[in-house]
Amino acid sequence: MEQFHRVIVSSAKGGIGKSTTALGTAAALASLGHRTLLVDCDVGNRCLDLMLGVEDRILCDLGDVAAERCEPSAAVTAVPGREALRFCAAPYAWPEGVPIERLPAALDKLAEASGAEFVFCDTAGSGETVRRIVSDFADGAFILSTQQPASIRSAERTAQLLTSIRPIPCRLVISCFDDRAARRGKRAGLLEIIDRTHVRTAGVVPLDPVLMLAQEEGRIPDADSRAGIAFRNIARRLLGEDVRLFEGMGALRARRVL
Ligand SMILES: Nc1ncnc2c1ncn2[C@@H]1O[C@H](COP(=O)(O)OP(=O)(O)OP(=O)(O)O)[C@@H](O)[C@H]1O
Ligand SMILES: [Mg+2]
Repeated sequence: MEQFHRVIVSSAKGGIGKSTTALGTAAALASLGHRTLLVDCDVGNRCLDLMLGVEDRILCDLGDVAAERCEPSAAVTAVPGREALRFCAAPYAWPEGVPIERLPAALDKLAEASGAEFVFCDTAGSGETVRRIVSDFADGAFILSTQQPASIRSAERTAQLLTSIRPIPCRLVISCFDDRAARRGKRAGLLEIIDRTHVRTAGVVPLDPVLMLAQEEGRIPDADSRAGIAFRNIARRLLGEDVRLFEGMGALRARRVL
C-alpha cells in the first residue's frame, strides 16, 4: 500500500466506526513501535478522550493550540499502556475569533511537539474542518464504510469530495463487517462495497462486540481480538507490508465473503 503518514479519517455518514478505526489503527502503530499522534478533530463532539480513558488528563486541546493559548506540548497527552501513543483532544467549540485556517498549522505544531511519525486526524466526516485538513495537512485519507447502502454511497461521495479538494490517496476501511450476513447474501459483500465506492481497500474491521465494551470502559481494544488483529493488519499495510485481507483472523476467508 502507498505509504502516508498524516491520515485523515473521514466519511460523511455518522456512527460508522471512524473514531473506533482512528483509535484502533493509531494504537496498533504505536504497539508496533512507531510514535503516533491521534488528534480528535471532531470539534464540538469529542469522544476519543473517553474512549482512551484519559479524560481527566486533558489540560489543553486542539483549539487552545490554534488560539496560541498554550504550548503545543501542553495539549499532547501520553496514553497509559501505549508508550508510543500520544493524544490531543478536540475543543468543545472552536475558539471565537480564531480563523479555521489556523487548524493545519496547529496540527503541524502538535506533530512536531509529539515527535510523531504518524498522525491520525479523526473527524466528523465533513465540513470546513475536513476541508482544511485535506487542503493543508493530510497526505492520505481513510474513508470508512459499513455494509449499509447509505454508508457505501456516502463513502463514494466523500472520496470524490476529498480528492476534489486535493488529490491525496484515499483508502477504504470497511467497518462493522458482518461476514455471516455477507456469506448469506443478506448484506453487501466486499466486492460490492469496493466496486461501488471506487476506493482501494486498506482493510476490513469485522463486527466485534469487544469494541463497544472496550470503549465503554475507556480502554484500547485487546490486540488479540478480531478487531485488534484487523487494526494491526491495517497498520502493517500502512507501513508498506503485504498483508492478506484477513490475516490472523482464523476462519474468516476473503473468498467466502466477496
Ligand atoms: N467493528 C465494529 N464492531 C462493532 N461495533 C463497532 C465497530 N466499529 C464501531 N463500532 C461501534 O459503533 C459505534 C459508532 O462508532 P464510532 O464512534 O467509531 O463511529 P463514528 O463514525 O466515529 O461516529 P460519529 O459520526 O458520531 O463520529 C460505537 O458504539 C462503536 O463501539
Ligand atoms: Mg467519531
